[in-house]
Amino acid sequence: MTKRNIGNMRVGISPSVIVGALVNGKENYITLGQCSGLSMNPPMMYISINKVHYTNDGIKENGYFSINIPSDKIVQKMDYVGLVSGREVDKSGVFTPFYDEDGKTPMIEECPVNILCKVYQVVDLPNYDVFFGEIVGTYVNEDCLTDDKPDMKKINQVFLSGGKYCYVGEECGTAFSDGRSLIKDK
Ligand SMILES: Cc1cc2nc3c(=O)[nH]c(=O)nc-3n(C[C@H](O)[C@H](O)[C@H](O)COP(=O)(O)O)c2cc1C
Repeated sequence: MTKRNIGNMRVGISPSVIVGALVNGKENYITLGQCSGLSMNPPMMYISINKVHYTNDGIKENGYFSINIPSDKIVQKMDYVGLVSGREVDKSGVFTPFYDEDGKTPMIEECPVNILCKVYQVVDLPNYDVFFGEIVGTYVNEDCLTDDKPDMKKINQVFLSGGKYCYVGEECGTAFSDGRSLIKDK
């Protein structure tokens, strides 16, 4: 197959998550496509937020943020909090917040998965703040667990692909397993 260089374009699916933070003492929510895992031990995730946004200062001030994984049921609200800024619009009532005992940052009741992160480091990229967060708690709706483990089919996480919100696809393999038969000298 002939390959064509189409420029320095980012291609591929991204998760679509809603980040919650307290900003000036009020719950604020921002939609992000730039979010992923960083390390396993300790478990860390990153989010990358344009410096023009309102949420950044709240995360820096409180040292915490939550990553909330939406299901397809709240796509419209997720899109909304990604269209309007907390600087102009009060987004605190869009979702039902809940807190852990420290009460540092709001998590979203309507999302089946909530990952509470403590800021580990902030990396200053041109135009973006990248927040590395250590996971301090992960909350999952009980009806989204199978054998006590998060079940991605039940969670029905939404992804971003080519500007569209999409469902998780069908399984097409088993990680750390399918490649084993290709390992020589077993
Ligand atoms: C699907 C989607 C994905 C987005 N991903 C990002 C992102 O990864 N980083 C970012 O800085 N802004 C992203 N945005 C834009 C912010 O969510 C948006 O500008 C938001 O209104 C900022 O809110 P705030 O000013 O209250 O912080 C995204 C928006 C949408 C709709």
